[in-house]
This record gives sequence, structure tokens and C-alpha cells, in this order.
Amino acid sequence: MTIPVTVAWTPEGLVVLDQSLLPGEVRYLTLRTPAEVADAIRDLRVRGAPLIGIVAAMGVALAAREPGDDSAAAVRQWVDRAGRLLAATRPTAVNLRWAIDRMLAVTQRTMPDARRLSAALEAEAMAIHAEDRAMCDAIGEHGLPLVPDGAVVLTHCNAGSLATGGIGTALAPVYRAHQAGRRVHVIADETRPVLQGGRLTAWELTRAGIPCTLIADSMAASRLRRGDVTCVLVGADRIAANGDTANKIGTYPLALAAKAHNVPFYVAAPQSTFDLATPNGAAIPIEERHATEITMIGDRRIAPEGVAVWNPAFDVTPAALITGFITDRGLLTRP
Ligand code: MRU
Repeated sequence: MTIPVTVAWTPEGLVVLDQSLLPGEVRYLTLRTPAEVADAIRDLRVRGAPLIGIVAAMGVALAAREPGDDSAAAVRQWVDRAGRLLAATRPTAVNLRWAIDRMLAVTQRTMPDARRLSAALEAEAMAIHAEDRAMCDAIGEHGLPLVPDGAVVLTHCNAGSLATGGIGTALAPVYRAHQAGRRVHVIADETRPVLQGGRLTAWELTRAGIPCTLIADSMAASRLRRGDVTCVLVGADRIAANGDTANKIGTYPLALAAKAHNVPFYVAAPQSTFDLATPNGAAIPIEERHATEITMIGDRRIAPEGVAVWNPAFDVTPAALITGFITDRGLLTRP
């Protein structure tokens, strides 16, 4: 099974797979400063809640390499500035804030000099990456019983290896089932407007040799009505304390359609996506993105100049529509 490498920490800087070019081109970018990392996150060159947490942590660690005054106090200042810059890039994915807070906590420890502080920051970023990989594996294990031999799994957006430091969240049980020799077929929503399903999920599953059928988002309800879908598996950008879940725009109508057709609807996410400080979905900030994501396809304009556009990147699925959460600690179902 071939899993693409999404991120690597190197002496030259942070190397990331540029997801904005997929599936046409596989190109890696070297990011050398927190500002370059922030641009890459904002432009969706790296995306997916767990992955942007990892990359932001590494971006904060890069701040400790900035040239100039190298006292521990100066490093703390650069790290603080980098943390603020990176946290502002994408407001919905709580993994971003969670990872940055872990990095800032490192700067609160007593450190005799800048070199040791820098090494501690680097070690924390590596730990966040390694833990994410392990959490993906655990999600795969806990979700495996939901993907029996012959399963048809419908998914939205990309919550696979491209969105994490490991084998993904929603796609982790699919990968594990495939590894276990079970026949599994994925139906991937293309995911308008940025097409993470068509460009990314279809790409990584095809590379891994897992059968995948691509549909436009508007076809999901009709497919669910056909009765051959075993379950819907999606990822999450933030899960509020009451279980309301923010994920890529289009997840909510998918959950409504799954409910209408009695198809189980599961959200797969690591601990870093649960936000107990946010009481419910109404309190989750929803990122709105540029109008050109709707009015243009590539370089081609598909809507008239000047038309008003509403482009929320995420929606909130009420907890009542969610059958269960596949987490790294186990499967949680409603009491
Ligand atoms: O805008 P994106 O591509 O970052 O949105 C990604 C999603 O909505 C994913 O489903 C979510 O981050 C979970 S990824 C494991």
C-alpha cells in the first residue's frame, strides 16, 4: 500500500507536498520561515485539520531558527509572533490552535539558552507528528469492524493520508480493511468548491489500489437511496462539547441524507479535534473563503463578474445526525 509523504522536517526547512497541484503534479515545497508556512496553509497547499496542526507546529519551530539575537528571550518572542501568525490562517480547524498551544507551552519551561529552547521546540513538533501518526493507526483499528468484507463506504472531502501525518482519519478504517484483505469500495464526493474529493481522495485511493467511484456532491442522496452503501465515514475540523461537528461544507446535507435512508454516519477524528471549550456547533467559527473558489474553475470564469457569492468552507452537522465517533481511544456512540 502506497501512502504519500505529506510533510518532512529537514535541515533546509519544512518540506511539504503541494496539494494544490494534485493530481496533475507531485511537487514538494521547502518552507523556510513561519510566514512561508502561513501562506502555504492559507493557500491550501497543505490542508486537512491534523496536517495543518503538524505543519503549524513545525512552522513555530522554524521561528526558533530565525537569524539575529539568539538569546532565549528573543526566541520566545519570535515563537510568540509565529504562533499568532499561524493561528490566524484557518479559524475552524481546532487542531491548529491545539498544536500551537503545545508549542507555546514549551517556551514557558525554564531553558538556559536559545539552542536548548530551539531543540525542545523541534522535539515537540516531531512528537506532535509522531502522535498524529499513532492516532490515525488507532482510529483505523477502532473503525475496522465498521468496514466488513464487501463494504461500500461513502466519504466527503479528503480525510485520508493527505490530511494527516499518517493513514488518515475517515480513510484509516478503509486502509486497515484493505490491508486485512477485505474487499472495500469507496464512493468519494468530489467536494465543491475546491474538489478535495475528486483531486485528493480519488488520487490517494487509486494509488493505494483501493477501488473508488467518484460522484458529484449532488449525487450522494440518490446513491444512498440505492441501498448499497454500508456506512458514511467523514473527518472533522472541530467537534464541540455536545458532539456537533464542523467539517467540509457539504457534510451536513450528507448527514441528513444518510439519516433519511438509515445509513450509519460516522465521524472519525483524533483527540486533537475535540474541543471541550466550545459548547456547541453554533460557537464554532466558520471560515469563509474567497469568491473565486466558486466563480472560477482553474483559470476559467464560470459565473458573471460582480455576482454576489457566499463561500463558507465548513458546515456544522448536529450531533443528533451522527451515529458515532471513531476516535483513537475507541468508538463513541450516543448514550
Ligand atoms: O479545507 P480543507 O481541505 O482543509 O478541509 C478538510 C476537511 O474538511 C477534512 O474533512 C477535515 O479537516 C478532516 S481531515 C482528517
